Amino acid sequence: MKFFFAPLQGYTDAAYRRFHNETFDGCIDSYYTPFLRVEHGDVRAKDLRDILPENNQGIRIVPQIIVKNVDEFLILINAILPMGYQEIDINMGCPFPLQLKKGRGAALLDRPQGVKEIMKEVACIDDVRFSVKMRLGNNDKNQWQEILPILNDAPLHHITLHSRIATQQYKGDVDFDLFSLFQNACCHKLVYNGDITTIEQLSEIKSNIPNLYGVMIGRGLLSNPSLVWEYVNNTTLNEEEKIERFLILHNKLFQFYESKLQGESHLLTKMKTIWDYSESLIGRKALKMIKKANNIAKYSQIVSSL
Ligand SMILES: Cc1cc2nc3c(=O)[nH]c(=O)nc-3n(C[C@H](O)[C@H](O)[C@H](O)COP(=O)(O)O)c2cc1C
Repeated sequence: MKFFFAPLQGYTDAAYRRFHNETFDGCIDSYYTPFLRVEHGDVRAKDLRDILPENNQGIRIVPQIIVKNVDEFLILINAILPMGYQEIDINMGCPFPLQLKKGRGAALLDRPQGVKEIMKEVACIDDVRFSVKMRLGNNDKNQWQEILPILNDAPLHHITLHSRIATQQYKGDVDFDLFSLFQNACCHKLVYNGDITTIEQLSEIKSNIPNLYGVMIGRGLLSNPSLVWEYVNNTTLNEEEKIERFLILHNKLFQFYESKLQGESHLLTKMKTIWDYSESLIGRKALKMIKKANNIAKYSQIVSSL
């Protein structure tokens, strides 16, 4: 079973991916990048910088794109492929209202014809592994039934399914029954995504869902960056050890951002995001104190007392 780090806009940038990979001995098979998108007719420069090969050395990344149509698809593909990438993931699950309004992400699931046109282009591009990351639907949990046959006909390498609809965002239970129906109807390799936060859950998913190609984990890895490392090394770390490893990653990121970002407030804002999903690891009180720190000295003092 493969282990993939999910794309997380605002969190898993090139530095985070590189230092995570370095800290946890390359236990992640691929890091999916936050989606690249078209703005004013062109690819955002910031998005392209994030996938520059020199910023992603020694680590396997899969650039992800979010598009509303073939025009946007081609703009992005033509910018990414010359960098040497041979694998691209297409986002059909994003529930962010800004992207939905533009007809991208999960909004594509409302438009089977749009999906068909994009898959027609996918079929014309040789030597590139395309994958799709999707939800069951945008606002209806049966929409996949019309979309999946189109994807089945396309030369995709795999599909990643987050078994919720976009209107749920991340609320409510992941629908395992529909995941299973989807799997039965899917001709491609399938990756599970959604709500994995412990090694016990990883083991359960592995034994309850046969023939999975892989699992993709997002927030669970932000809150415990050791999670996959523990699983593949068959080791359970105690809370102290988990925090210790979190801090090793944190300190690398701190040093990196300190040298890159201008001004204390930028550094402080960026570093605070590293803790956004850490409440289960460090507790509510410590998290609150970190979020309240109003200068770097105070911030560092709280972090070093963890
Ligand atoms: C803050 C945030 C940013 C995200 N950005 C992306 C993204 O750029 N592309 C994408 O496909 N999914 C994105 N997602 C969804 C995650 O990749 C993942 O599917 C979701 O968090 C569920 O998996 P998890 O329960 O393991 O976190 C994002 C989710 C969050 C919470």
